[in-house]
Amino acid sequence: MTDVRLTPLDGGSLARLLEAAVADAGPLEVMPPLDGPPGWTPERRAAFLAFHRRRSLDPATAVETTWVIDVDGRAAGAARLEAAGDVVEAGIWLGRSVRGRGVGRRAMAELLDAARTGGAARFVASTTAGNAAARRLLVGMGAELAVRGDDVDATLDL
Ligand SMILES: CC(C)(COP(=O)(O)OP(=O)(O)OC[C@H]1O[C@@H](n2cnc3c(N)ncnc32)[C@H](O)[C@@H]1OP(=O)(O)O)[C@@H](O)C(=O)NCCC(=O)NCCS
Repeated sequence: MTDVRLTPLDGGSLARLLEAAVADAGPLEVMPPLDGPPGWTPERRAAFLAFHRRRSLDPATAVETTWVIDVDGRAAGAARLEAAGDVVEAGIWLGRSVRGRGVGRRAMAELLDAARTGGAARFVASTTAGNAAARRLLVGMGAELAVRGDDVDATLDL
């Protein structure tokens, strides 16, 4: 059976996460859009590192907790929780080579546990109308989906 582990992000695992993203995902799947030529340019790699340092690693600016998702001992994606009051927002991405094997479902179950343990009252996540895997994953967790045009907002009371 596939071994799936969530490890809190730190400086060492951030380097492994970037490698996994470059090898197995598109920039738009794993980080906010950045102007410039497409693909994993040096600027985009630097922005990926800066994004995670700012949002998770630097205590002065951190707004979320991020985990590296290791699949059979190799970094394969990331999961995150961002709390605002008693609402916690989740996000997840996986490299293409591990999608569709139940890893997302298992990682989301761990996020849900972490959200409950942290005392959140509501779990939310967003995706797009065309993202069938994410929609199915969220419905499978018991979330209610609200579709507004291309935006899909999922909510689960904990
Ligand atoms: C969205 C994502 C995290 C799902 O993880 P995953 O490991 O591929 O999904 P799983 O294999 O755990 O499957 C979860 C459910 O989605 C379904 N599913 C998986 N891939 C699918 C696809 N391409 N089309 C339709 N349904 C799909 C599975 O059958 C399963 O449903 P079930 O439990 O009812 O059988 C992953 O595909 C991904 O990283 N995509 C790119 C980034 C992204 O879109 N993130 C969105 C965050 S909300």
